Amino acid sequence: MSLTVLYPGSFDPFHLGHLDVVEQARALFGKVVVAAMHNPGKPGGVLPLEQRVELVRRSVPSDVVVEAFPGLAVDAAAHFGVDFIVKGLRTASDFDVEQQMAHTNYSVSGVRTVYLPCRSDHAFISSRFIREIAQYGGDVAHMVPEPVCAALAGIFGKPHSSGPEGRR
Ligand code: PNS
Repeated sequence: MSLTVLYPGSFDPFHLGHLDVVEQARALFGKVVVAAMHNPGKPGGVLPLEQRVELVRRSVPSDVVVEAFPGLAVDAAAHFGVDFIVKGLRTASDFDVEQQMAHTNYSVSGVRTVYLPCRSDHAFISSRFIREIAQYGGDVAHMVPEPVCAALAGIFGKPHSSGPEGRR
């Protein structure tokens, strides 16, 4: 049986942890819709919504639907006719935030949320720190898909440092 799931997020920028959630959801459920949305709790992003959508599209398998959605996640779930919302979990603090959001979303719409654990080697990756590092010219190539890496280098310039292997 194939199910359709919604993966909402701000994706500013989309990173390898997000890509892993898309791949897990695709393997488990079948069809994945990624909705790039506004998170009112996260001002100070770097990429406009249209560019975030474009970069997600270029980073995921071609059968994944990627759209911007201006309203609530539950309205996106209804709009795309999905069976579940999916969210990735890195840490216990992610769980606390996501659990409250999942209960709230269920209370207003009846849509359930399914959590997917992130890969252990991706647990440290966060869009916030990628933004900070890229803004100061640091190297984020090991944390983001290639199209995102190229876009950040286009905005902030070519990164000046490499990872631990490069510094030895
Ligand atoms: O990648 P993020 O920033 O953790 O994603 C959070 C996001 C965009 C999924 C969340 O802020 C959201 O659902 N925004 C849409 C507005 C909404 O539905 N708010 C009610 C949440 S209970």
